[in-house]
Amino acid sequence: MTETLVAPVGAHPEAGTGETPPKRLFIKTYGCQMNVYDSERMADVLRPLGYAATDTAEGADFVILNTCHIREKAAEKVYSELGKMREMRDKKLARGEGRMTIAVAGCVAQAEGEEIMRRQPAVDLVVGPQAYHQLPELLARNARARGERIGADFAPNEKFDALSAEGAAARGVKGPTAFLTVQEGCDKFCTFCVVPYTRGAEWSRPVADVLAEARGLADKGVREVTLLGQNVNAYDGAGPDGVWTLAKLAYALAEIPGIDRIRYTTSHPNDMSDDLIAAHGDLPALMPWLHLPVQAGSDRILRLMNRKHGRQKYIDLIARIRETQPDLALSGDFIVGFPGETDKDFEDTMDLVRQVTYASAFSFIYSPRPGTPAAGMGTQVPDAVARERLHALQTLLFEQQTAFNASRAGMIFDVLFEKKGRHGHQAIGRSPWLQSVHVDDADHLLGQIVPVEIISGQQNSLTGRLLQQKVA
Ligand code: SAH
Ligand code: SF4
Ligand code: F3S
Repeated sequence: MTETLVAPVGAHPEAGTGETPPKRLFIKTYGCQMNVYDSERMADVLRPLGYAATDTAEGADFVILNTCHIREKAAEKVYSELGKMREMRDKKLARGEGRMTIAVAGCVAQAEGEEIMRRQPAVDLVVGPQAYHQLPELLARNARARGERIGADFAPNEKFDALSAEGAAARGVKGPTAFLTVQEGCDKFCTFCVVPYTRGAEWSRPVADVLAEARGLADKGVREVTLLGQNVNAYDGAGPDGVWTLAKLAYALAEIPGIDRIRYTTSHPNDMSDDLIAAHGDLPALMPWLHLPVQAGSDRILRLMNRKHGRQKYIDLIARIRETQPDLALSGDFIVGFPGETDKDFEDTMDLVRQVTYASAFSFIYSPRPGTPAAGMGTQVPDAVARERLHALQTLLFEQQTAFNASRAGMIFDVLFEKKGRHGHQAIGRSPWLQSVHVDDADHLLGQIVPVEIISGQQNSLTGRLLQQKVA
């Protein structure tokens, strides 16, 4: 999963119906897809209280920053954003428009709750990733909740019990694709990573809950679900007949009418079980796409990172998966400049990338995180060296991505149309390999899966045309 700034949760048509005008809710989401899912669920639990999502903080009654702690930059962004929110809050009060409640949620809330309160007293609430289902109750308690901080204990089961009790119908959807969290937390303790501390131990949602939520999504027109977990392929949820693996869950999800496409992210190489690999060749709904981070290509660095596998094991694993699904789009994450990384170590990473080849990837300069073992490890790599390595790696990865996209030209395959494009009647869809596909005169097909002929592939997207257009 990667740190990106994602769009705020969009307005929901069902929100705020009733006698009183809706209260305006603005959620800004940082970090990984799980935070996107969590933001959507926060909007869901607040909707019955009359909160309707808006896409601007200006004039909002309730602002939530759903934060990410993965790298220093991500965490620091929160404080500058809070400064802006405080100004907006003061102006709103001065205009006589009432109070703006400010909450910090997500992984920074979990990791730095007390510091947030100290550094920015304008913050009313701090809610950890396992506690946001309590937002309505906290708001109801109003004044007493000022300055309240919850979520220091990890109990995702309580959160999901509360969310599931609301019923699958409570979920707002924004189009034909949706995230669905099935697993949370991480027991791997890579030495650079804060996630085991911010999200807690690995925990899987029961099968029945996942299936109910997926049915609810399908009823609202969702055709593609992406199953989320910090280590999603470690899924071991309680099923009707014992513990289910992720593969077994995927087969059951594929049976739900309307759910035509399934993806899952993020996976750890050590949890790629035989049944999951086999499913890639056997279950048509499982898209030929896999995000399987390796982080580095040097055995020495992999050991220091505590990744618990070597370079060759990863290379062999990818070969096995490609035997099952030769048409796989592989995606990955990389860290450069891990403490003590030499030129030779970095060359091993470049070499691994050349051998394996990726359809897309995210790469980052190592960021020392407080409380993680790597932060205290030996020599940190000078910034200029790390930047140079990042540039070289990204150049190679972009070349591979562009080549993969270009290789789709001339093919005909199914595209799920997701949203309107920028020009005229253009629509943007998703290919089986998660590329964006731009097609003219297709905006009447939103929500549908339709065959498209690909004209060309660029670095970040594909251009295609509807088959009928050719005939006409
Ligand atoms: N559970 C996922 C990743 C979660 S974090 C996995 O194991 O793959 C998403 C990505 O952020 C990681 O894959 C890693 O590449 C990057 N990352 C994590 N901690 C980092 C740090 N301290 N500095 C730089 N990048 C980091
Ligand atoms: Fe972080 Fe490693 Fe767990 Fe991924 S597997 S969340 S990188 S500790
Ligand atoms: Fe960031 Fe937390 Fe996700 S630290 S990457 S938001 S799990």
